Formats: sequence, structure tokens, C-alpha cells
Amino acid sequence: MCEERSVEESQKCPCDELNLQSHVPVMADEVVDFFSGGLNEGLLVDGTSGAGGHLEMLSRALPGMTFLAIDRDPASITNLRSRFRNNPDVIVRQGSYTEIPEIINELGLGQASAALFDLGLSSIQLDDPLRGFSYRSDGPLDMRFDDSSGSTAAEVLNRRSEKEIADIIYIYGEEGRSRRIAKAIVRNRPVNTTLELVEIINGSVRRNSNKILSRVFQALRIAVNRELDELDRMIDELDSWTVVGARIAFITFHSLEDRRIKLLFRDTPLYQQHSPRWVVPGEDELQRNSRARSARLRMGIRI
Ligand SMILES: C[S@@+](CC[C@H](N)C(=O)[O-])C[C@H]1O[C@@H](n2cnc3c(N)ncnc32)[C@H](O)[C@@H]1O
Repeated sequence: MCEERSVEESQKCPCDELNLQSHVPVMADEVVDFFSGGLNEGLLVDGTSGAGGHLEMLSRALPGMTFLAIDRDPASITNLRSRFRNNPDVIVRQGSYTEIPEIINELGLGQASAALFDLGLSSIQLDDPLRGFSYRSDGPLDMRFDDSSGSTAAEVLNRRSEKEIADIIYIYGEEGRSRRIAKAIVRNRPVNTTLELVEIINGSVRRNSNKILSRVFQALRIAVNRELDELDRMIDELDSWTVVGARIAFITFHSLEDRRIKLLFRDTPLYQQHSPRWVVPGEDELQRNSRARSARLRMGIRI
């Protein structure tokens, strides 16, 4: 299998095929197996708790542990609070995973024995037209995980220069037609809705291509949420809040994030790659959940 995947797959949603209204946790059995091997007490941080699918399975499999559930999205936090209201072992906090050291400190939880990061966005977010993540339904071009701060995707497109927009599309979307698309966006400003953007992109490349749409939408989402900067910051501080021997797992959905995790576990002396180097979903899971197709699970141990 090719080490580097294209970015476009991450727009695929299981809801497209299965018409689900919820998020299906990806490689949940593999994640539970990894954490179950050797852990029976201490703190497990789920830095991207989303709908709480992984968390639910982990809290059942590891009853002696305390779980800290973090998500940047206030709507996810509301759902998590409700889902785990009867589970005193699960503590839920809104925030970025870059804030984990402060949150752990404030709660007096001590260092973590385990951490999970299931990167990207949940199917619930992708499926909600009001969030503006999907090119398949009309809605405001927002795309913020945390809608209480930062610029929306519309603000990015309406305020940044043509060159900046082209760079976003090229670097974060790996889309070769970035300049042509950026020129068309600037010519048609203001751009305020997802379907306005879809029309501009399709017009500029003179065809309807879901691949191009998903690359551009993904690029914008990464830029709006500064996803790669956040990931780099979190990786830099990971050793400060994890114990030696901690089990750490990442699920990535595109090459830009996966490359970072590969280097973390392969080349950083503070971590040891767990074997196998990565895991991909099996055929059964792909039958049930098409979004899992682009997922890769990487596991490492803090040494
Ligand atoms: C793929 S979903 C996680 C799904 C979850 N594992 C489950 O089983 O339901 C990714 C989640 O990460 C959150 N997220 C993205 N960037 C984040 C960040 N910097 N800090 C915390 N959460 C973040 C998103 O809001 C989203 O809910």
C-alpha cells in the first residue's frame, strides 16, 4: 500500500451510503485492543472525542481508568456530556487538544497513561448543512470546529488575496488547479454559501468533479481551523503530559497529517513505533463504513 494517500477521501461520509445520522468510530476494535494491552489504571485522554464512539468502547473495556474527553466543538461537547452523564469515570471538557496540559493541570489529574487522537471531522459535523463542511448540501461557508472564535471559510475567501487562496488550495488540498480556482473565487466575491463555492469551482475547471470539490473543501477546513499548526503544537508538547510507557494512538485521514505521525513515532527518540507500523480498516469495516477507507491507525509508546 502507498505510504502517502491523497487528501480527497476525507470528504467521504458513511452517511452518503448508509444514511446514518451518527458517527461510526473507525477501527474501534483495533483501538481498544491497543489500549487494552497493558493498561488497567490511570488516565486516558481522548483528545478528539467527537460523538464519543471510541470513548464509549474504551470506557467499557477499561473500567479501572479515568477518561478525559476533549473536543474543540461546543456542539460535540453538549452531546458528550449527555452521553456520559451517568459515567463518573468520564470527564468532559471543551477545548483544543493543544490545551490538554493546562486542562489536566487544572483538574489535578496527573500525567496520562494513554492518549487517542482521531483526527479530522465527525460524520455528524460533515452531515450538518449549517456547519458548511460539505459540498453536497447548501449552507453557510463556516467550517469552524469552534464557532465562537476565528474566521469562517467565507471570511477567508472574501478577505484573503488571490495568491493566499491559491496557496491554501495547493498546500492543504494538493490540488494542481489551485490558481485557476482562486482566480475564479476572487472574481466572484463575495462567496457566502457552500453551493456558491461549488458553482465557482465547477465553472473554473469546466467540469463537475467531486475529487476537486473535496480537495478544495478540505483545504479550506484545514486553513480555517489551522489544523496542521494545532497538530504540530500538540505533538511538540505530548511528552510533557504523558508518562513513560504511555500508549498513544492516532487515526489520520490524509497524508498531510499522517506524515507527521509517521515521523513522530519513527524518528523522535521519545517514542517507539508500535508494531505493526500502521493498521488500515478490514473489508468488513469498509462494507459497513465507507468513510473508514482513507483511515490509517498509527500507534506508539512513549519511552
Ligand atoms: C473524527 S472526529 C472524532 C470521532 C470520535 N473518535 C468518535 O468516535 O466519535 C474528530 C473530532 O475532532 C475534533 N477536533 C478537531 N480538531 C481538534 C482540536 N484541535 N482539538 C480538539 N478537538 C478537535 C472535531 O471537532 C471532531 O469532533
